[in-house]
Amino acid sequence: MIAPIEGFSKLTKAEKIDWIAANYTDNPPVTKNILQRYWNSDNQLQKLHDEFIENTLTNYYLPLGIAPNFLINGNLYAIPMAIEESSVVAAASKAAKFWLDRGGFKASVLGTEKIGQVHFMFRGDTKKLEKFFVTVKPQLIADARPITKNMEKRGGGIRDIVLRNRTDQMADYYQLHCTFDTLDAMGANFINSCLEQFARTLKTEALKVDYFSEAEKNVEVVMSILSNYVPNCLVRAEVSCPLADLNEDPAIAPEELARKMVRAVAIAKTEPYRAVTHNKGIMNGVDAVVLATGNDFRAVEAGVHAYASRSGNYTSLTHAEIKDDRFRFWIEIPLALGTVGGLTKLHPLVKLALDILQRPSAQELMQIVAVAGLAQNFAALRSLVTTGIQQGHMKMHLLNILNQMGATASEKAILIDHFKNDTATHSAVVDAFHKLRDH
Ligand code: MEV
Repeated sequence: MIAPIEGFSKLTKAEKIDWIAANYTDNPPVTKNILQRYWNSDNQLQKLHDEFIENTLTNYYLPLGIAPNFLINGNLYAIPMAIEESSVVAAASKAAKFWLDRGGFKASVLGTEKIGQVHFMFRGDTKKLEKFFVTVKPQLIADARPITKNMEKRGGGIRDIVLRNRTDQMADYYQLHCTFDTLDAMGANFINSCLEQFARTLKTEALKVDYFSEAEKNVEVVMSILSNYVPNCLVRAEVSCPLADLNEDPAIAPEELARKMVRAVAIAKTEPYRAVTHNKGIMNGVDAVVLATGNDFRAVEAGVHAYASRSGNYTSLTHAEIKDDRFRFWIEIPLALGTVGGLTKLHPLVKLALDILQRPSAQELMQIVAVAGLAQNFAALRSLVTTGIQQGHMKMHLLNILNQMGATASEKAILIDHFKNDTATHSAVVDAFHKLRDH
């Protein structure tokens, strides 16, 4: 039985590594060696990463790739993607190239509203609370001015504060439901700071109200926190082309491909088991760009899936139709993203990713990310309804399998060539590798 440890965070990095290696691994020297191999030789860069979180032992790499040739609203982008899944960047690049020859992607931002809530308990007469709220609202906004004044100078800030009565859900439960525009910042710290100030004002001003009973004066704030559900921070991206232009593959008529794609989307709209996987493929593209640009992919994931179930049924984030002899394919997705603040100046790779994207505004980044999601879904559906997903997937995964088996560079070259025309299932690759070695 391993004993609990006191004061782990106070240990030096070397002591932390010694402790974890000795207590939780079979081979401490090997553990230490693995952790140290990922240290950066540039001490300043290493220190930067050490200080992002507590108890850092080493760095955790993900590949950063580029999907070029994305034509979005007439601008050509090379999109940085941080992801470990073999086929994602390849699929994005393929879809980008396909739509480059067909007018590219059109994207537009439908809203930028961010949301935060102060959840509180009020034990008394709702009518009196409503009367109090009318008078306290300007005070809530005024007391938050030290936090909001810079954001206001740039055109953002608090958009509204609404009192919501949720006593139908829970006895005595009310909210200040607050909306914000945080411009190019994701805005989590800004919003949370405003909310905590609203909560302070709410409590102190309630104490002064002469028409409140003692119980009513005692507003109990439960918590003040932004919401990652942002249905009005919404972006739309779409592609379309004449039906006849849809396909490059002579094995399937373009009309047939279009019909199959529309049907595949229709299945994802009605069948939640399929919708989750369909949307997972979209998030392959979304998360990879969100991560590369230093944004909070957990926030995006939570918000997107909540949006996908806003009707009460979990459904597809993309839509497709054939109309007037055209194929149309589009996505609407909530994305609260930032291109200033957070990691954007701090993490050299994030800064570089944003430079590669031509230093986008938050709204431009929303459009780019939505396009990456749409492209990924297009690529996945096109494979799924034609050759199946494994052909392309295993081709990309081939290198992982060969690396796992310790193939040399020349063995890799021979086997990659071998699997150009054969489906690279795991067992077929293992067999071919052993045949080559034993030859
Ligand atoms: C794999 O990461 C993603 C797919 O399963 C998405 C889909 O099925 O649409 C290929």
